[in-house]
Amino acid sequence: SSLMPFHSFGFDCRAKALVEVHSIEELKLAYSHPNYLATPKVVLGGGSNTVFTESFEGLVIVNRIMGKQVTETDSAWTIHVGSGENWHDLVMWSLQQQIFGLENLALIPGTVGAAPVQNIGAYGVEFGTVCDYVDALCIATGEVRRLSQDACQFAYRDSIFKGELKGRVVIVGVGIKLSKQWRPNLGYGALAELAQLSELDAEQVAEHVIKQRDAKLPDPAVLGNAGSFFKNPVVPQSVVDALEAEFEVVPVYPTGVQGQSKLAAGWLIDKAGLKGKRFNGVGVHIDQALVLVNHGEGTASELVELAGFIVAEVKQRFGVTLEPEVRLLDNQGNLCWKS
Ligand code: EPU
Repeated sequence: SSLMPFHSFGFDCRAKALVEVHSIEELKLAYSHPNYLATPKVVLGGGSNTVFTESFEGLVIVNRIMGKQVTETDSAWTIHVGSGENWHDLVMWSLQQQIFGLENLALIPGTVGAAPVQNIGAYGVEFGTVCDYVDALCIATGEVRRLSQDACQFAYRDSIFKGELKGRVVIVGVGIKLSKQWRPNLGYGALAELAQLSELDAEQVAEHVIKQRDAKLPDPAVLGNAGSFFKNPVVPQSVVDALEAEFEVVPVYPTGVQGQSKLAAGWLIDKAGLKGKRFNGVGVHIDQALVLVNHGEGTASELVELAGFIVAEVKQRFGVTLEPEVRLLDNQGNLCWKS
């Protein structure tokens, strides 16, 4: 099967087989089907964070488990959402229901089920902060288990689903808890100007986020990409000091850990002189150096080569090692990045 319609980089890659599942029962069937018992399996949501670097010799399971139910208490809403729902559609739908709190996370590509895995985040809000629980199917037992927010071990672009539970569970639903007492989250630089307004609602915040993202991030339907390709690296203060001696302004984010700061990977790639560069059919995006793009004729192996080149250049220039944010898979569906 061609994976072209199922991933956002638009590479011409293939899988041995592909099935779309619409319920937990269908998902279980895909795992227990006698034809595929010994076949490696990869679950895809929107395909906006996964790169098949080779033809995949296994079964791709496309998650289409849908549904949204709202419950409420005096102080909060809880939305239970099927993991196959589109994330951005959920954000816009919640705003229409007058349920606020997801607006900073507008326009993030991908599905609801992918949100907890890498703890998606933007404009000062992370999925983990609004998560009430995650329902996960245990592949070995066929049981669905509910993990509390705490049990998910959320951290920057990280969770238990990338650690201990990697490859052992499939997320089938999530619970999102949002306070009825809405408070805008304007801490992130690009949103600070909204704090000047005397009246502000969540729709305006969403509009602003969408405008910012549209200005910098290419639409995958037009230019293949998977959003931020690398994570923002966490470095000791000495690295920040060295950069501040060289550059007037160095963008850093706090990590909450004493003596450690997060640098902007896009800024490092930009300062290494790589922004907008083309390498065969792929390249570094002209407006946001953290995004790698397929100019149309690119291949996954060109992309891996480009990523390796960027890591080497940034390492040589600044002594910082970048790590991918996207999932790079080999022909068996295993993570294959070697930094
Ligand atoms: N910068 C440059 N040149 C560039 C890119 C960035 O100088 O080519 C500078 C910017 O001027 C800014 C700083 O680097 O001072 C940070 O840039 P930006 O605000 O665009 O955010 P980011 O750190 O590059 C992160 C997330 C994005 C998220 C934005 C906004 C990661 C890996 N990426 O990017 O998430 O949208 O913050 O909150 O944490 C994604 O994960 O796919 C994603 C797009």
